[in-house]
Formats: sequence, C-alpha cells, structure tokens
Amino acid sequence: MGCGIAQLCASQGFSVKLHDLFPEALAAARGKIKLGLDSAVIKGRLTTQQADRAALSIDYASELSGLTGADLIIEAAVEDLETKRKIFGELDKRCPEAILATNTSSLSVAAIAQATATPHRVLGLHFFNPPVSMRLVETVRTPQTNPEVFTAVWDFVLMGLRKTPVDVKDIPGFIVNRVMRPYYLEAQRVADGGAGIAPVDTAAREIGQVPLGPFELMDLIGLDVNLSITRIIYQACGRPERFKPQALQEKLVELGHIGRKSGKGFYLYEGSQAAGENPQALAFLSAGPLKPAAAWEQIISSVIAEAQMAFKEGVAGKSDIDTAIKLAMNFPKGPFEWLNQKEKTRF
Ligand SMILES: NC(=O)c1ccc[n+]([C@@H]2O[C@H](COP(=O)([O-])OP(=O)(O)OC[C@H]3O[C@@H](n4cnc5c(N)ncnc54)[C@H](O)[C@@H]3O)[C@@H](O)[C@H]2O)c1
Repeated sequence: MGCGIAQLCASQGFSVKLHDLFPEALAAARGKIKLGLDSAVIKGRLTTQQADRAALSIDYASELSGLTGADLIIEAAVEDLETKRKIFGELDKRCPEAILATNTSSLSVAAIAQATATPHRVLGLHFFNPPVSMRLVETVRTPQTNPEVFTAVWDFVLMGLRKTPVDVKDIPGFIVNRVMRPYYLEAQRVADGGAGIAPVDTAAREIGQVPLGPFELMDLIGLDVNLSITRIIYQACGRPERFKPQALQEKLVELGHIGRKSGKGFYLYEGSQAAGENPQALAFLSAGPLKPAAAWEQIISSVIAEAQMAFKEGVAGKSDIDTAIKLAMNFPKGPFEWLNQKEKTRF
C-alpha cells in the first residue's frame, strides 16, 4: 500500500519521501512505482512527461530521519499495533511539525496516537487497494484529533489527491470493514441454511446487481485476510454474536483453501478462472430449505441493519456510509439507498 500511496501523491504533484525499514522493500517499491507510472501512461491517465516528473519527485529513505521536514506523514507499515506505536513514537520526536496519519485497516487510531505526546496531530487515512484507482479514503478522527488538522487533511485528500474523503469516527473496522462484515458472515449462515454457495453469489449479482457475490469476493480478498479482519472486529466490539467468525471459513483457512491465491477457496480455480464450487466447502454445509432469493434478502438486510447501527452510534453520516460502501465495493447502492428502495417497494 505504501508504494501505491506514494505513487498517487507523486502523480498529483506532491514531493514524496518513501521510507521502509528494509532496503529490499524500497528497491521493490521503486520497481512497482515505475511499472505503475508506465501503466498510467499506457492507459492515457498521465503523459510521459507527468510520469517522469512523478518518478523524479519520489525520494527513497532507508532511515526514518529522512522524513524530517515533511508536512504530512502517512504510515503504511505492517498491521501490528506495537510496530505502529514504535514508529509513531519515533516520528513524534523526529518530525515535531508534521501531521501524522496511519493507513491502518483495523487497529485503533487512538491506540496508535497514544504512543505520541501529541495525539492532536494524529488521524487515520484509510486508503483502498489500489490507492491510485480507488476513489474512497476513510478519514478517521479520534476524540483528540485537532479539527484544524482534520480539515487540512480532508482538503489534501479532496483537492490535492482528487479522492473522496468520508468523515469517520475511530471505531473498529471504520465504515467499510464494519458495515460489510455481515455481507461475508450472513452469507455463510444462509449457505449453511440450504442456499448454497454459487446460488447465493448468483442471486447477489442478479438481484442485488453487485459486481461480486460474497463468496466470490472472499475468494478474491483471501479467506485468511478476510477472517483476520473479522476476528479483530469481533474482539474489538466485545465478541457480539453477529460478528462471530464462521466455522465454514475457519475450517477452509485451516485446510489452506484461502481463495484464488491458493487455487481453492469457496470455488476451485484454474488460473484466474473459477471452475465450480469447492466440494470441500460444500461438504461443510448443512442441508436446509433456504432459497437463494430469500438468502440475498437476508444478507442485504443484515448489511442495512449494521449501517443503521453504525449511524446511531455516530460512526458516520448516512450519506458518508452510502458513499463509502458504493466506492469501496463498487455497489450500485449504499445501505440507506437500499433501505429507501425497500420501503418504497413496500408502499
Ligand atoms: N493491502 C491492502 O489491501 C490494504 C488496504 C488498506 C489498508 N492497508 C493497511 O496498510 C498497511 C500496510 O499493508 P500492506 O498490505 O501494504 O502490507 P505489506 O506487508 O505489503 O507492507 C508493509 C511494509 O511495511 C514495511 N515495514 C515493516 N515494519 C516497518 C517499520 N518498522 N518501519 C518501516 N517500514 C516497515 C515492510 O518492510 C513492508 O514493506 C497495513 O496497516 C494494512 O492494514 C492494507
């Protein structure tokens, strides 16, 4: 993610310093950024001149001290609280003037900020992968984030990077990972209720008009990555039943059936093509009477219920929740728009 964010910032005319603890990671980042900029030229998104200028505006720093003097630092190291806290403690001392942002997907921004003596200048900037093409950036404030710092970063995302920021409170999973949790978990419950795997994905695409059904999406993300986010949110929210990791996914992960990257997940893969449901996944399911259309209704209703809960808790506004889900998931509607449609249909 770090090199994607660096490429994005450089492409928008910012001067960037990219730091990694490991020199081989920095060398790999240089190569990835070159490929990314070449591809932007081929797609007509940048001229050759702009791509050359962007490449030249990135400096590679093997020491954290290389970041001294930066206005904004966006940390995208491994998803580990202690690592991030150590980095923020160091940044606090070395870069006293900078705004400090973390790209964490699931950790508490406030817990990272506590490693500094200046939590008012710390916030979350949660980019989506790949940062160059995904428009959404969840912009996360803790109770201690200074409103002026938040506004400055909001303007940077909106006008500097030309992305869509949404204003989010520092809660586990922010908007997208939290509101979308039932999409994955409820899908496994309905599969076990008799709706199956492929029929649920087909119903999601045909009725919901979403690009990928829940099982197709988990296979793409990686069942292991998706499960680890579920576990973090489940723990951080006090282990509520609705976020409980599902046995189906846990068993598949244990077997190493973790999605496209392993050739097996909920489906089997030949290259990048799905070649039917994974018999092992089907073997873990119980028989039941649930039909795919009813299953889709149950899945989307649970996403709407989660969005309503997040709104009531003040995590974000309704339109920010809708925007976040549409941009992150490429969904035709956000949960509140779906709710409105349901209510109109009922009348
Ligand atoms: N991959 C995604 O789709 C995605 C999306 C949104 C947010 N994120 C978040 O972005 C962050 C990075 O994720 P990633 O997938 O790019 O991980 P990654 O493992 O690919 O990259 C992490 C990089 O951090 C470097 N690193 C480790 N310890 C360091 C330290 N102490 N100082 C400096 N650099 C250090 C590693 O060498 C590595 O190059 C995580 O917080 C993750 O949750 C990832």
